[in-house]
Amino acid sequence: MNFASDNTAGAPPEIIDAIVRANSGTDSSYGADQASRRLTRKFSDFFGTDVTVFPVATGTAANALALASITPRHGVVFCHQGAHIHVDECGAPEFYTSAKLVPVPSPDGKVTLSGLRDAARHFHRGDVHHAQPASISLSQSTELGTVYATSDVSAISAFARAEQLAVHMDGARFSNALVSLGCTPADVTWKAGVDVLSFGATKNGALGAEAVIFFDSAHVGDFSYMRKRAGHLFSKMRFVSAQLEAMLDGDLWRRLATHANSMATRLEAGLGAIPGVTLAQPVQANEVFFTVPNHTARRALLDRGAKFLLWSPPADEIPLIRLVCSFATPAEDVDRFVGCVREVL
Ligand SMILES: Cc1ncc(COP(=O)(O)O)c(C=O)c1O
Repeated sequence: MNFASDNTAGAPPEIIDAIVRANSGTDSSYGADQASRRLTRKFSDFFGTDVTVFPVATGTAANALALASITPRHGVVFCHQGAHIHVDECGAPEFYTSAKLVPVPSPDGKVTLSGLRDAARHFHRGDVHHAQPASISLSQSTELGTVYATSDVSAISAFARAEQLAVHMDGARFSNALVSLGCTPADVTWKAGVDVLSFGATKNGALGAEAVIFFDSAHVGDFSYMRKRAGHLFSKMRFVSAQLEAMLDGDLWRRLATHANSMATRLEAGLGAIPGVTLAQPVQANEVFFTVPNHTARRALLDRGAKFLLWSPPADEIPLIRLVCSFATPAEDVDRFVGCVREVL
């Protein structure tokens, strides 16, 4: 019953097989290998437009470097107050951009237009005393397991265009969001105004592979140098790229994310029927947030062997619990967990 994160799972055989295949013989280093070269075409097919792809090994690197490519040092990045780039990346986005992150509050993890307008009006364009608005970062799916509709992304991008801001998407769980929306990868990215995406594969089953995807080559600039300087130009890049390729081949991403999302929906259905449980957000991807009435109930769940994270300050009397499902979450674990919650309450 490990619901602590989707990265507590291992990797599916397709990923391991791809790495084993990449292991045969020699190949060029530093991204000149065959798998890396195939990625441009494969991601361009996936997104239905020509893209520029830069594999990196962590989501933090993808986000920090992507933001650095669209934000000057004197710039402002607007993001949700709970965004991973704001609270969980140890200042890496600030380190790589030198820019200012400005958090936008909302209860459901999604940046809103009104929140953006409120935040942006404090920064006067052309005033040398003010950091200059430069970019917006949206997490898809969000840190509260909610998903931006394509119309949400389009509306925020329209605001961004009007305000001369670039749009970044933190897609650590992009596949989960895509499965949830049932739209094409194009619909919720470049067609909706996203300039650069951190495409996540690790949380969906890769060993360690993410990609920075540029939809507008004008933003690429010196990215190759930035990635090298950040230590993310792997000499044996073929092993990172092979994982990304395997994710796209045969729509593996979809199969893995569909399972993770359906396990979260199963949790939602089971937990939602238990008196005393309050679901904090509608489940739209692979994460479930809920409360139990007190810490005693939470501890009783831990005592029964369940693993999860507490998503509210430890002093909160009514703890917010986060459950994350992965491609490997067994339905039996979901049912056992729901049974434990029923027993405890
Ligand atoms: C929404 C989101 N973005 C980015 C990341 C960063 O990924 P990594 O831990 O690989 O740096 C995470 C990881 O938890 C995440 O949840």
